[in-house]
Amino acid sequence: MQTILWQGDQAEDIATAAQCLQAGELVAFPTETVYGLGADALNEEAVRKIFIAKDRPVGNPLSVLIYDLHQLAALVCPPSEQARRLMAAFWPGPLTLVLPKVDALPDGLTGGLPTIGVRMPNHPVALDLLKTFGKPIAAPSANMSGKLSPTCAEHVAHDLTGRIAGIIDGGACPVGVESTVLDMTTKPPTILRPGGVSLEAIERLIGPVQIATNSAKAPGLHYKHYTTQAEIILYADTPEKFAAHFDALKQKEKRPFGLLISAETAALLGENLTNIPVRILGYRTQPETLARGLFAALRWFDEQMVEVIYCEHFPDEQIGAALMNRLQQSANRLSTERRKSL
Ligand code: TXA
Ligand code: MG
Repeated sequence: MQTILWQGDQAEDIATAAQCLQAGELVAFPTETVYGLGADALNEEAVRKIFIAKDRPVGNPLSVLIYDLHQLAALVCPPSEQARRLMAAFWPGPLTLVLPKVDALPDGLTGGLPTIGVRMPNHPVALDLLKTFGKPIAAPSANMSGKLSPTCAEHVAHDLTGRIAGIIDGGACPVGVESTVLDMTTKPPTILRPGGVSLEAIERLIGPVQIATNSAKAPGLHYKHYTTQAEIILYADTPEKFAAHFDALKQKEKRPFGLLISAETAALLGENLTNIPVRILGYRTQPETLARGLFAALRWFDEQMVEVIYCEHFPDEQIGAALMNRLQQSANRLSTERRKSL
């Protein structure tokens, strides 16, 4: 299959992409979090194509994007007062709400669950496509299953060229990590995945929520995620510690390595960084700058000849919780695999 590249600011390209969705094809497009891989949510056959294109395990449910609250009625039972307050405060935005679904949805969409995740994205191209298409769009992240989520059109092309009808290029995603997934069917509600809306912001609005510890509650957490070529080692939790231990690390580490650090740590390391592959994510004092560049940096390291990435332990408040969650999953996976092979 030939994969067409469209431009997000061209009305005729959006119209063509919407026609492809109508014809049951798959279209990747930008959202404020990461690029999504879209299909007509109410077309069983189109939904099935998502699982094939991404090589996604069939039990992992898809979430659905809408552009207007009037679209909810086709997807979910009337939302609770609490859910409506969250929608009013955070939509459009990076919050997926898991709600009881209506009966008439394709089974493949929700992996047989009685619930469905819904979100209104805050990105002009996503909203334009949703309005032009007029119906809800099922949209997981537009990467091969188990890999890093894409934050620009090139990442999508790398993973899915030849497997989908087209990609709408809307530049880099401003948030850079996926949405927070909040299960509204438990009391209190449960964060299944930390993301673009922080725990603190949610609790300020609706009071205490719990964080999923049992992966049975969070189907997506059963599967491996965020895999990188190199091993990731989370290193020091302050720039000062990173800099203080760096000479010893250089002596000890015999494998080719890279560094994933903040601007504050880079400033302390100075010329010590010469000849080492380094990605500076942003400022510890501005966690949104750290999150924005994470997946692009990890994909960049996949192209480098490094066997290990020493990654600063970033503050895990606000969106930093999502950032550290993704890094910890990348780091854990390799250490688990390594342990098995020893
Ligand atoms: O920011 C995002 O959420 C992006 C953009 C494209 O919207 N989408 C995204 O989709 O990250 P995906 O499929 O890669 O991740 C959605 C997560 C998965 O872990 C899935 O298991 C979980 O949400 N999920 C979806 N529906 C669910 C449901 N009914 N119950 C529990 N978890 C659900
Ligand atoms: Mg994903």
